[in-house]
Amino acid sequence: MKPACSDQRAEVALRYRDDHERVHRHPARVAAVNLPISGSRVRLRDVTLADADLLDAWSADPLMFGEFNDFGLERDPTDRDALAKGPYRNERNGQLIVERLDTGEPVGSVGWHKQRYGPNDRSEAWNIGISLIPEGRGRGFGAEAQRLLADFLFATTVIDRVEASTDVENVAEQRALEKGGFVREGILRGAQFRRGARHDLVNYARLRTDD
Ligand SMILES: CC(C)(COP(=O)(O)OP(=O)(O)OC[C@H]1O[C@@H](n2cnc3c(N)ncnc32)[C@H](O)[C@@H]1OP(=O)(O)O)[C@@H](O)C(=O)NCCC(=O)NCCS
Repeated sequence: MKPACSDQRAEVALRYRDDHERVHRHPARVAAVNLPISGSRVRLRDVTLADADLLDAWSADPLMFGEFNDFGLERDPTDRDALAKGPYRNERNGQLIVERLDTGEPVGSVGWHKQRYGPNDRSEAWNIGISLIPEGRGRGFGAEAQRLLADFLFATTVIDRVEASTDVENVAEQRALEKGGFVREGILRGAQFRRGARHDLVNYARLRTDD
């Protein structure tokens, strides 16, 4: 699993100023929501330095990322220097650990990054992704984790759209997104190249104004 923390510092500084201005314009829409956040089955918590070996083991395990995330790429090792300084999240992207509530066991991670649909800040969206360990699948964890992540991003940022895309054949993820409150929007034809062929993706999103 690629760490979500490979940021250029200058860009982060610029983003900080940008975000500061937006928070100033919309102060009522950004709440102080503390992690971990819990549902009925899982909680989302920050990645810590103690998770570095686990993240590397997950990254090296083809069963972990599954056939729909197999791009044949070398995966970067977890950035321990960045983790030693704080959580794996900033104004542009982030990653959280998904933990079972009943056992406390880490069962995967969720990540997000910014997507822009125009030159202005108000045209930004969060694009999210998820990977669960094989034993953690099919128990409702994926649906709840993605619902919690969207709730967290709406509560802590001014962005009004959280989106995800997945292979048209990844029925489990499509169902998990629907159960997580995401609305199916359409097909991105031939958007992804994996395993020697182009693949269609299906796009989902939750808007702040949904529900
Ligand atoms: C995709 C993933 C996040 C889904 O999370 P999950 O916890 O397994 O999903 P949930 O248990 O919340 O929901 C899965 C739903 O899909 C259904 N489902 C699973 N496999 C299915 C299949 N092959 N065909 C039809 N439905 C399927 C389940 O029955 C369930 O629906 P239900 O509750 O109505 O019965 C998880 O399986 C995973 O990490 N897979 C590997 C990585 C991956 O594909 N990530 C997404 C890449 S974009």
